[in-house]
Amino acid sequence: MVIGTILMAGASVTASLLVVQVAVIPLLFKYSKAVQRKMVFSNCINYPRNLDYDNPSSCNVVGGRNFKIEFESTVDDCPIKLGVWHIVPCSMFRDVFVIRDYTRVDERQHEELKRTRNTVVLYCHGNSNHRASPHRLQMYKVFQELNFHVITFDYRGYGDSTRVRPTERGVVEDALQVYAWLLDSLTTVNRPKVLLWGHSLGTAVVSNMAAHLPELCKCAGKRLPPPDALILEAPFNNLTEEIERHPFSKLVSWLPYYKDTFVKPFSASSEYAFTTDQYLSKVPTMPILMLHSRGDKIVPYDLAAKLHETVLHSRLSVPDAAPLVFHTFEKGNGLGHNNLCESAELKTVVSDFLDLIKKKPE
Ligand SMILES: *[C@@H]1O[C@H](CO)[C@@H](O)[C@H](O)[C@H]1NC(C)=O
Repeated sequence: MVIGTILMAGASVTASLLVVQVAVIPLLFKYSKAVQRKMVFSNCINYPRNLDYDNPSSCNVVGGRNFKIEFESTVDDCPIKLGVWHIVPCSMFRDVFVIRDYTRVDERQHEELKRTRNTVVLYCHGNSNHRASPHRLQMYKVFQELNFHVITFDYRGYGDSTRVRPTERGVVEDALQVYAWLLDSLTTVNRPKVLLWGHSLGTAVVSNMAAHLPELCKCAGKRLPPPDALILEAPFNNLTEEIERHPFSKLVSWLPYYKDTFVKPFSASSEYAFTTDQYLSKVPTMPILMLHSRGDKIVPYDLAAKLHETVLHSRLSVPDAAPLVFHTFEKGNGLGHNNLCESAELKTVVSDFLDLIKKKPE
């Protein structure tokens, strides 16, 4: 009797799960743009909460300062304020924290940038959470140890930035505005190296921006030189294929109407395409370093391999094509989608790449 009841209950749970899998999720997907958007940008996931962004040290950042970048968005026709941190390299710690009071927010931080010869990383994070997410903080530490300055920010709709619904054009506009601010803050004579570093969805953002820089600049009324290199941490070839291969999709990918309900709405969206492979094929003279672990469960390794193949192919007939380096982290060392910062070899890989691109004639 008891066993019978348990079995019955079990059966009904299984049945309702099946209903959810077979009917509810695909319908939600097909008919709700909001659901799709939430999947892509996941900016409603916001952990850890209640942070004091003004005070980066309370978020476990050493040597960071908070400020805002403000502009009029031509994409969303509204004013946008982005929350930004500037995090200084380890080599500046003594100077900054012992000799001078560098913790107050004022214009002096920009002086430090103006003077610097150190490489500067503009970090564009992936979907969900914000610039203070623990795995991102860990990556900033790696940059600091490499003696890089870090500029990291939240796109619209994330963190403490203006609450506007993110779209691909919107987040690319944000990245461009931060890039423009950064170049404006640096010296123009012997400018230090500027790296655009994207992680996960951020790799598509930096690729879009690098590929469309002249058009984007025109739109924003600016003239900006290209960055010295793109660094793509855990990139995918295009969003449609990434969605198909995402672990969530395994729940439903056996359904006969899977393509129509799940994949087509993504391909058909005007709010995001994130076709990194197409973007990067347009910039054969841009040096690129790709970083990917074979143990990545969120963006499978072979999507990065496909991206690499497409970009490599696009450079074959270009005489002055720039270096394209694809570094693979092997399986079995615990490295996945979010923790390449833990790799012992990462710093060497990045330094070697910078040496390689240094040799290019000015
Ligand atoms: C995404 O990549 C897949 C596999 O390479 C391809 O079949 C598909 O057409 C691509 N989609 C877009 C929008 O480029």
